[in-house]
Amino acid sequence: MEIPHHAGTRQWVLEGAHLASMVRGGASYGMIDNAAVAFAGSDIAWVGKATDLPAPYFGWDKEVLPGGLLTPALIDCHTHIVYGGDRAKEWEMRLNGATYTDIARAGGGILSTVEATRAASEDDLVISAQQRLETLMAEGLGTIEIKSGYGLDVHNECKMLRAAQALGMASGVRVKTSFLGAHALPQDYAGRADDYIDLVVKEMLPEVVRHNLTDYCDGFCENIAFTQAQIRKVLEKAKLLGLGLRLHAEQLSNQGGAQMAAELGALSCDHLEYVDEAGIKAMARAGTKAVLLPGAFYFLQETKKPPVELLREHGVGIALASDCNPGSSPLTSLLLVMNMGCTLFDLTPEEALAGVTREAAGALGLTESIGTLEVGKRADLALWDVEHPAQLAYPLGANPHLSQIRAGQWVL
Ligand code: NIG
Ligand code: FE
Repeated sequence: MEIPHHAGTRQWVLEGAHLASMVRGGASYGMIDNAAVAFAGSDIAWVGKATDLPAPYFGWDKEVLPGGLLTPALIDCHTHIVYGGDRAKEWEMRLNGATYTDIARAGGGILSTVEATRAASEDDLVISAQQRLETLMAEGLGTIEIKSGYGLDVHNECKMLRAAQALGMASGVRVKTSFLGAHALPQDYAGRADDYIDLVVKEMLPEVVRHNLTDYCDGFCENIAFTQAQIRKVLEKAKLLGLGLRLHAEQLSNQGGAQMAAELGALSCDHLEYVDEAGIKAMARAGTKAVLLPGAFYFLQETKKPPVELLREHGVGIALASDCNPGSSPLTSLLLVMNMGCTLFDLTPEEALAGVTREAAGALGLTESIGTLEVGKRADLALWDVEHPAQLAYPLGANPHLSQIRAGQWVL
């Protein structure tokens, strides 16, 4: 066989662990017991059973692990980790009887984080988000999506996105950004939502694109945020500008946002507790992923679960994410997200791991490069001190993560 030559890059083989490739179709979890992986520079050159390793790889450097499990590095495909302040007081108010919607309507909620985020410098935002990022990284995170949406004016939305990109540069984790200007109506636009949407469409979007600050455009389509017609304007403009689309849809009520976004070709619709069959069918037709956020469901003490069975029936891929944010999901553990996906939303442990690997890659439009362990993909792997993948999401509060390979090299 021919082995592609990668000049100036390390070529090596790793053996001694089991491996959950998360490739669909074969064994559950794409499991390969006693696996070998050959790395050529930043990519996977070969993966299979160690006993099947082809002879041409025998001459490559070899490392042998004393056991453990290799999986794709985890992907958090929906976060708001860049923000100022916190909302612990608001949480206390909720536990004294106020609802998330009451607080939002009284000018608290997202708007209180907007105030704190506007007051923070770009460096402050990087430093506070760094702690959250490090907690996620300690559980094998390789890629993260980070949204704006607490700036709500040109200057502060750009500041948030620059902070998010700086986090990627400083940490080595792959960061993808989403512009979420249509997250909430800023106070100075009270009663003038259409004017604010005009600002988002005519000024903010062109500015963040001009400076290359965002990969995707997101929005919040909800009775406490923006209507379907308003969000449509934002997503249509973003599509024209070449951005990938995603949407916070049907979290607290059904606004038809998922169907609209899917018809525009959205990569993902997120939350989805109230999505109906029409929305799910539109998502299935468009290949739009469902990103479920059990942390927000748990933290807001919601009772209506997303229709997982219907998503399965229609073949909509299900991703899971932390939704890490100060108001509805102050959560920085993807292992806990996986556990919650199983215990709260009845996913199987295999679906939960796929949700933070293969399906999360799909939700970010990165299926070609990450999310499964197969030839030609980027060599982003996590090594765990477990024997079977179900052990990852099973214990609460334990962290079996041992180490990580990023772009073909050990980190940590
Ligand atoms: O994904 N749903 C809208 N946005 C966030 C909440 C943001 C906040 O409360 O600060 C979410 O849950
Ligand atoms: Fe969110």
